Amino acid sequence: MQQLTAPPKKPSQSATEMVQVVLPNDANPLGFILGGTVMHLIDIAGAISCHRHTRSLLVTAAVDGLQFLHPIKVGDLIILKARVTAAWSTSLEVEVEVFSEEILTGERRMTSRAYLTFVAIDRDGRRLSIPPLLLESEEEKRRAAEADVRRAARLEARKALEAR
Ligand SMILES: CC(C)(COP(=O)(O)OP(=O)(O)OC[C@H]1O[C@@H](n2cnc3c(N)ncnc32)[C@H](O)[C@@H]1OP(=O)(O)O)[C@@H](O)C(=O)NCCC(=O)NCCS
Repeated sequence: MQQLTAPPKKPSQSATEMVQVVLPNDANPLGFILGGTVMHLIDIAGAISCHRHTRSLLVTAAVDGLQFLHPIKVGDLIILKARVTAAWSTSLEVEVEVFSEEILTGERRMTSRAYLTFVAIDRDGRRLSIPPLLLESEEEKRRAAEADVRRAARLEARKALEAR
């Protein structure tokens, strides 16, 4: 692993918001955005936030179970808010929340929440150490503690998958 001595960064320094309008090309025959399109946007928003934290190349290591609570229809806005919740040695977790917003009324609903893990690598695939996450508020510390629990479950799941 390549050691970098980068200073800690606050979650707010890498927080990312993406907004786009849902177009017919993104939708199924019911006029709702495709699940795969939402997954793609989640991956992009999460990756941008993690790139801002690490300023390195990254690969997606894991995406936790994803649910779609409400459909987002053609003409609505889709809003994705990503924030880094925890940074370990070479990997970090990002939370991405997805919202729909009706253009005419402004009504906003949360439709999904996803947790993704990215690993920092160089062009030869070597792992890179990443800046620590500076946790200041009680809320940030709680999020990071929850991320530790999810990470342990992910690594167990990976071990079980590799053993099959
Ligand atoms: C993700 C990947 C780099 C992990 O490689 P590995 O050799 O198993 O993992 P390493 O032992 O090098 O661990 C690197 C870090 O990833 C973490 N990690 C690995 N697999 C993980 C998983 N499934 N979930 C969460 N974290 C994981 C490790 O805990 C470690 O974190 P740390 O350094 O912060 O403690 C490797 O499996 C890979 O390249 N996968 C394909 C990635 C890809 O193509 N993604 C889609 C396109 S970008």
